[in-house]
Amino acid sequence: NKPVTLLAIESSCDETSAAVIRDGQVLSNLIANQKVHEQYGGVVPELASRAHMQNIIPVVDQALQQAGVQKNELQAIAFTQSPGLIGSLLVGASFAKALAVALNIPLIAVHHMQAHVLANCIDDPRPSFPFLCLTVSGGHTQIVLCKDYLDMEIIGQTIDDAAGEAFDKTAKLLGLPYPGGPLIDRYAQQGNPHRFHFPRPQVEGYDYSFSGLKTAILYFLREQTEKDPSFIENNLADICASVQQTIIDILMQKLIKAAEDTSIREVCIAGGVSANKGLRKALQDEADRRGWHAYTPAFQYCTDNAGMIGYMAYHQYLAGQFAGLDIVPSARGSW
Ligand code: KG4
Ligand code: ZN
Repeated sequence: NKPVTLLAIESSCDETSAAVIRDGQVLSNLIANQKVHEQYGGVVPELASRAHMQNIIPVVDQALQQAGVQKNELQAIAFTQSPGLIGSLLVGASFAKALAVALNIPLIAVHHMQAHVLANCIDDPRPSFPFLCLTVSGGHTQIVLCKDYLDMEIIGQTIDDAAGEAFDKTAKLLGLPYPGGPLIDRYAQQGNPHRFHFPRPQVEGYDYSFSGLKTAILYFLREQTEKDPSFIENNLADICASVQQTIIDILMQKLIKAAEDTSIREVCIAGGVSANKGLRKALQDEADRRGWHAYTPAFQYCTDNAGMIGYMAYHQYLAGQFAGLDIVPSARGSW
């Protein structure tokens, strides 16, 4: 049996990534971060599209080279079709289509959020189906019931801001550069998570809300810096630890409820925020307490990457799910 070799492209936001996957194994996973957005405190869509155009060919070439794979060995080209920034998605989609036509091989359109979930299945130990996945990224916060590789259901999600946004917006209020999530993670390790208390929202079912927390932090910091202009500087680690603990408590509470209600003990996290050390520890602690099996993707598969796109595409390939050349990317993207 001839191995299935795929090239995958991810360009939904501000990371240009390409990966080569053979029989579900990631041979290479190249990620070019776009530094241009740092000075603006967030991703500038127009600049992101331009950077994708500059990065995509070198990134694809390097991914093929690192994998030791020639273009004529590829069986299909996978790309992120949705959701994401439309201009960014268009660069990846157009490139993938052009290459598919040139090589006369099929296209596979991948859903970015579903690929985040399956990042948990790339390496051992892998969860068995059905499993629950808390997907926490810069744009999404979802609890997903994953019944099979290509059979997933969102059972809860945020009604306003995403968890990653809560991290990034807090970082901005603290004067930290974008994206602030990893920096809060780092400062939090030296801080006291119980020093400051922030309100927990009351939301129905498995849904989340983070916009109230952002406002509470804003007012808290305003009040404290009026009394002491050096408040942030002098308490940075404790503020970061306390905010991070609040976000983790909110995330875990609904995940625990979902696990209890469904009696599912295979529990995963995914997305950029799943790189957070505090969240990874909270998941493991809860797993030890409740007899769950907990899973977290390797760091390179937490934030946006083409490896996870290719892994999902491999299962779509096996199921014969190919896209026509008339496929268009979609910013929102139905599930
Ligand atoms: O999945 P991702 O790379 O992109 C989206 O699809 O949105 O997630 C990016 C988000 C950003 O909000 C970033 O601050 C957050 O993930 N993030 C973290 C950490 N690493 C990335 N948040 C908290 N702790 C981290 N270590
Ligand atoms: Zn993502």
